[in-house]
Amino acid sequence: MSGIISAKNLIKIYGESPNETVALNKVSLEVKKGEFVAIIGPSGSGKSTLMHILGCLDKPTSGEYLFDGKLASKLSDNEFAKIRSQKIGFVFQFFNLLPRTTSIKNVQLPLVYAGVGKQERLKRTIQALKEVGLSDKLESTPAQLSGGQQQRVAIARALINNPLVIFADEPTGNLDTKSSAEIMAIFKKFNREGRTIIMITHEADIAKNASRIITIRDGQIVSDKKNRSTRIRA
Ligand SMILES: Nc1ncnc2c1ncn2[C@@H]1O[C@H](COP(=O)(O)OP(=O)(O)OP(=O)(O)O)[C@@H](O)[C@H]1O
Ligand SMILES: [Mg+2]
Repeated sequence: MSGIISAKNLIKIYGESPNETVALNKVSLEVKKGEFVAIIGPSGSGKSTLMHILGCLDKPTSGEYLFDGKLASKLSDNEFAKIRSQKIGFVFQFFNLLPRTTSIKNVQLPLVYAGVGKQERLKRTIQALKEVGLSDKLESTPAQLSGGQQQRVAIARALINNPLVIFADEPTGNLDTKSSAEIMAIFKKFNREGRTIIMITHEADIAKNASRIITIRDGQIVSDKKNRSTRIRA
């Protein structure tokens, strides 16, 4: 059986000749359930492009991509949206929370879309915010929270639907060292609980939290290594 993620020879070209940019140049990759993968590489190397394809936000120009056994290139926009809302959680550099909206309302949004009833929604939302250490900030709006706290709200929102995979694009890119360490501690905890995480980062120190580190350069994977150094097993 293949993993949750199975990509073969992904090519992504933006624009038209002669102004085209080859953002991904034959990327092949397998990720299994329970892995914590960091993708590193210089600016413009294709990290976000790869995440958009793996996260079913965009389709490759060519190549084959299977998410959870389904051939992504064959899916309609509707089916794509359904996969994203049911099986994928996203965490972004700039948090992407609704302003003037409480933590509870931000986190429960995916459950509203999924049609979960009010009582159940509230129960799960409070639990998710507790898991990221924000039980005392349920009614706070993003403006009343620190960057690290805002990112924890975003993580709770990404996890609320119990997704198969969490994709994080520079989740600590906007945070100080202490908040970054807190976010990584949360990711590691969720990974120990069996969740699959794919995280993009510029920073080698942040990548070290993952159990596998993939480096891309000029749209190609140039290294893919197990990171045994920091893997702590209970
Ligand atoms: N929508 C787009 N249209 C045209 N070119 C694009 C588009 N998105 C990305 N590119 C180009 O594709 C290449 C890869 O971009 P990508 O955003 O994937 O890089 P990245 O590794 O995420 O960089 P960063 O670390 O700066 O976020 C870059 O040369 C970029 O300019
Ligand atoms: Mg990027």
